[in-house]
Amino acid sequence: DSDRINIAIDGPAGAGKSTVARKVAEQLDYIYIDTGAMYRAVTLSAQRAGIEPRDSEKLSVHARTLDIKLAPGENGQAVFLNGENITDLIRSREVTLAVSHIAANETVRELLGRLQRQLAESKGVVMDGRDIGSHVLPDAELKIFLTASVQERAQRRFKEIAATQSITLEQLEQEIAERDRLDEQREISPLICAKDAIVLDSTSMSIDEVAALIVKLSRTKLAEAK
Ligand code: CDP
Ligand code: CDP
Repeated sequence: DSDRINIAIDGPAGAGKSTVARKVAEQLDYIYIDTGAMYRAVTLSAQRAGIEPRDSEKLSVHARTLDIKLAPGENGQAVFLNGENITDLIRSREVTLAVSHIAANETVRELLGRLQRQLAESKGVVMDGRDIGSHVLPDAELKIFLTASVQERAQRRFKEIAATQSITLEQLEQEIAERDRLDEQREISPLICAKDAIVLDSTSMSIDEVAALIVKLSRTKLAEAK
């Protein structure tokens, strides 16, 4: 079906991936898939079960029992774990601090990767994450690697959460840098810029500018695919 393509958007934390991916999906009438939310769902579930990320055996067994679903929600995408709506719960600081450790588990990555590929099978998907262009959807027609300086990314996140979470800008910048380091250095499908990805530095770009650029790039790819 050459009427639709798949778009992969990868990059470090706070680069604007999910905000931009949602807009692009809206404008193209595509489906947005937030793969970070899936890793967050597994993290929440493991925490509830008292499983440590380093206990990889237990974590693998636990992960196999989970039913994770994404559905269009009021403010973007809702996330369900075994039927429970956990959309807000997965944004807690506790989950954010642990997620990169859980995401290093091989079984967790295999399971979620498989689910992500299934969701993209019929094309027309905008998927954001860390390893989408490099590993999950290596044949995606358009791959974007979205970055911004760590200071800018921390500031963006700070504006978003300062009202509800007690954390300083400096702390947040450190935590983001640490999460990037873990994501870049893990053995299995790390955060990496795919060879054929287009790098977009959004440090001094607005959300609408980035989204418009990606929509334009996808229209070019669509024309090529015909
Ligand atoms: O939105 P934010 O950048 O804070 O993070 P996220 O996209 O929700 O992803 C949370 C974490 O999940 C990342 O820091 C990675 O450790 C992991 N992740 C991953 O390993 N692979 C993906 N495709 C997506 C997320
Ligand atoms: O998904 P990711 O972690 O890459 O980032 P995000 O959650 O989409 O964006 C983090 C914050 O930066 C959000 O509050 C966005 O509104 C904001 N943002 C921005 O101010 N300017 C951009 N060009 C992109 C995002």
